[in-house]
Amino acid sequence: MTTRRLGPFDVHPIGLGAMPLSMGDNERPSPAQAVATVHAALDAGVTYLDTADIYAPSWDTMNHNEAVVARALASYGGSTQDVVVGTKGGITRGPGETWGRDGSIGYLRKAVEASLRALRRDVIDLYHWHRPDRSLGYGDGVASLRTLQEEGKIRAVGISNANLEEIDVAVEVLGPGGLASVQNEFSPRFRCSRDELEHCGSLGVAFLPWSPLGGTGSAAKGVGERYSVFAEVGTELGVSPQQVVLAWELSLGDHVIPIPGASRPTSITDSVQAADLALDADHLDRIDTALNR
Ligand SMILES: NC(=O)c1ccc[n+]([C@@H]2O[C@H](COP(=O)([O-])OP(=O)(O)OC[C@H]3O[C@@H](n4cnc5c(N)ncnc54)[C@H](OP(=O)(O)O)[C@@H]3O)[C@@H](O)[C@H]2O)c1
Repeated sequence: MTTRRLGPFDVHPIGLGAMPLSMGDNERPSPAQAVATVHAALDAGVTYLDTADIYAPSWDTMNHNEAVVARALASYGGSTQDVVVGTKGGITRGPGETWGRDGSIGYLRKAVEASLRALRRDVIDLYHWHRPDRSLGYGDGVASLRTLQEEGKIRAVGISNANLEEIDVAVEVLGPGGLASVQNEFSPRFRCSRDELEHCGSLGVAFLPWSPLGGTGSAAKGVGERYSVFAEVGTELGVSPQQVVLAWELSLGDHVIPIPGASRPTSITDSVQAADLALDADHLDRIDTALNR
């Protein structure tokens, strides 16, 4: 297992998506199970934890997930020196569960300050602009993040749910080496961000597939039933279909860092092993053929 580059950081090739600890289609875990899940990830070698300010059970508990991550890191028995925490902002959540977008500097500054408090940090390691605010030019939103970085509140800047053009705008605004990561949906059932994945490879920008197993609920659990090739290869290698999915994603480029979600320790402990699973050319051919059938 070798680490992968995430902006200024080197991280384990598999991150932990912390969202299911606060929301999603599965039952929300108890506080103790949530902390145990993060600890299991750290025990297994995970060094990138992915959260967001909106990951919360309700609109009036924003920053819930960041607080869970902070609590888990504070209570971990081992070293957390190499752990990178990435969070996100730019989606608004208000009374009555009304959702919106705001990429203005005024909103993002307040969002970053709330995330810093929840994460119990002075600086956020990696901050993703969660979704474009179409009332602004894309470059203006990225410039807001650059300002917050210049103010020392953010170490590295990422974007999320961005298309090819938006990636190029972000690179232009942030300058050479300034864009750490692009976090877009990518999984066997959602492959239409493959162009963005490849573009990031050519730019030397990390690509973080979100919902890499297809999403919480039945999609991730049933990925081997919906796409039998992952179950077949898994049976041959004696591993879960989920590990094969993640190993296939890792094979798409050294810049790819999947962030499978988990609300149970066993899920992330299993997923992490994908980093050591070598798929040969025959496996990869069979997966490509099955997906493109
Ligand atoms: N940037 C964005 O707009 C955006 C949007 C959505 C998500 N995300 C990020 O992406 C992360 C991952 O996405 P996601 O959580 O929606 O979906 P996902 O990673 O595709 O699926 C998560 C589900 O997979 C199950 N799972 C994980 N590993 C497994 C394994 N080895 N075997 C069996 N089941 C396994 C988990 O079950 P248990 O719950 O039972 O452990 C969990 O419910 C999120 O946590 C979040 O950090 C970002």
